Amino acid sequence: MRTPKWLEDAVFYNIYPQSFYDSNDDGIGDLNGICQKLDYIAGMGFNAIWLNPVYESPFRDAGYDISDFYKIAPRYGTNEDFKRLCEEAGKRGIRVIMDLVAGHTSVECEWFKRSAEPEKNEYTNRYVWTDSVWDNGDKGSFISGWSDRDGCYMNNFFYCQPALNYGYKNVTRPWQLPMDHPDCMETRRELLNIMDFWSDLGASGFRVDMALSLVKGDPSGEGIKELWQYLRKEYKSKHPDGVLISEWSYPMDAIDAGFDVDFLIHFGNKAYTTLFRYEKGTNQSQQWCGNSYFRAEGLGGTDEFLSIYNEHYEHVKENGFIAIPTGNHDMQRISIGRDETDLKIAYTFILTMPGVPFVYYGDEIGMKYIEGLHSKEGGYNRTGARTPMQWSRGKNLGFSKSDTTYLPVDSSENAPVAQEQENDEDSLLNYTRKLIRIRKENESLHASAGFMVLDTGYPFVYRRGDILVVLNPKNESVSVDTGDGSVCLASVNAQIKNGKLITDGKGAAVIKLASTGN
Ligand code: GLC
Ligand code: CA
Repeated sequence: MRTPKWLEDAVFYNIYPQSFYDSNDDGIGDLNGICQKLDYIAGMGFNAIWLNPVYESPFRDAGYDISDFYKIAPRYGTNEDFKRLCEEAGKRGIRVIMDLVAGHTSVECEWFKRSAEPEKNEYTNRYVWTDSVWDNGDKGSFISGWSDRDGCYMNNFFYCQPALNYGYKNVTRPWQLPMDHPDCMETRRELLNIMDFWSDLGASGFRVDMALSLVKGDPSGEGIKELWQYLRKEYKSKHPDGVLISEWSYPMDAIDAGFDVDFLIHFGNKAYTTLFRYEKGTNQSQQWCGNSYFRAEGLGGTDEFLSIYNEHYEHVKENGFIAIPTGNHDMQRISIGRDETDLKIAYTFILTMPGVPFVYYGDEIGMKYIEGLHSKEGGYNRTGARTPMQWSRGKNLGFSKSDTTYLPVDSSENAPVAQEQENDEDSLLNYTRKLIRIRKENESLHASAGFMVLDTGYPFVYRRGDILVVLNPKNESVSVDTGDGSVCLASVNAQIKNGKLITDGKGAAVIKLASTGN
């Protein structure tokens, strides 16, 4: 394995900083707030944090529009606070991974302002521009009429996120620069510099936003692989223990390109979607209509997931990992249409699969996707998954003492809160904690340990070394042979009797087998 060893038993907690904990009563979460909650995070067993962007930004895309890559946004604190957060996390065995928005900046970034000037300067080619305002490119999306510079800039996501220029793999127009153009090499150098800067302050790696988007004119994908292989080599030469995690959603390509971990989630592939997101009415995209496997109705299947998963898994397993998250800031929460039992079954899957699991803040208590919110900072339909963490009963459910908060706190009477769940042995929080502990304690459940599917229906059954996992989301009882002497390490509505695991409707179990057999 070329990946850093610490990934073997890593379980990530994904924190959306503005909504985690407000330490100075201004209504918005901050770095010191995260610092104050490190004992909670460590107590859950998480040993790594992925922080959504915390850099200075005008926040038109919640911080994915960066105006200064070298500065923590004042609303979150200071660079010094970041350093302290990494130190305090480190003392508790937790590593902090930053979000690296490598493909674009905000229009308010100094580099872009210089780039938009009509006179040539060192930033002229830092972004992708056409050479006339009347030429809005062949492909991609370009913005015209922004500045006195005679040209259109390419936007990478929203209009306010101009694409940084790492060059074109295939140059077909005079304004397109080849990847090895000195100015494009300069963009690379800057990115590496940013990575060094935060690594020196304590970051243990990066989740790279839209990692696939950096090279333009690259239909074969060769250019982007070339670029990341280069960046990996440079980064790892200085930070061998640092990790590179991609938002690519095609692990085969991402790991070949040099990433350690890639998410298998959205962007058209049907893996995650068929398990959790085929919910009628909750997705905008028509193609996502059907029945999720993890639903009590039991009308879904695992075949589509497994065929995609296995192909990627077989391809990457010597060199990197697939990450399956409970959710993230871009999707509706996994709790949509699921009760606590359904979630326990889903987490039994997520926390026992190979690779690196991620838990989105609040999913450990079953926080709801809040419907009907106005878009906040470019969130649109993502906004409902970004509401404040629910800590305890009382004002703003313990998130902030301010009268107004970044987003409204879940106002429902039965809104789950961490403090109550801490005190309830059977809570989702304590079940999640138990799964994390079992994962860390059993090498068979570590990232690179084996994986063998035994049954693909209801139940879905797989072996990982001496561990057997049985998942039965369907509301119908099933039984599975376990042999004598096997023990349940964790279970939901299930027990072992006479060499058989019996689950009632909606059950799951993680079983340590007495004899590992073949
Ligand atoms: C990624 C982020 C998303 C952001 C976009 C543009 O998909 O996860 O939140 O809006 O990139 O940076
Ligand atoms: Ca604050």
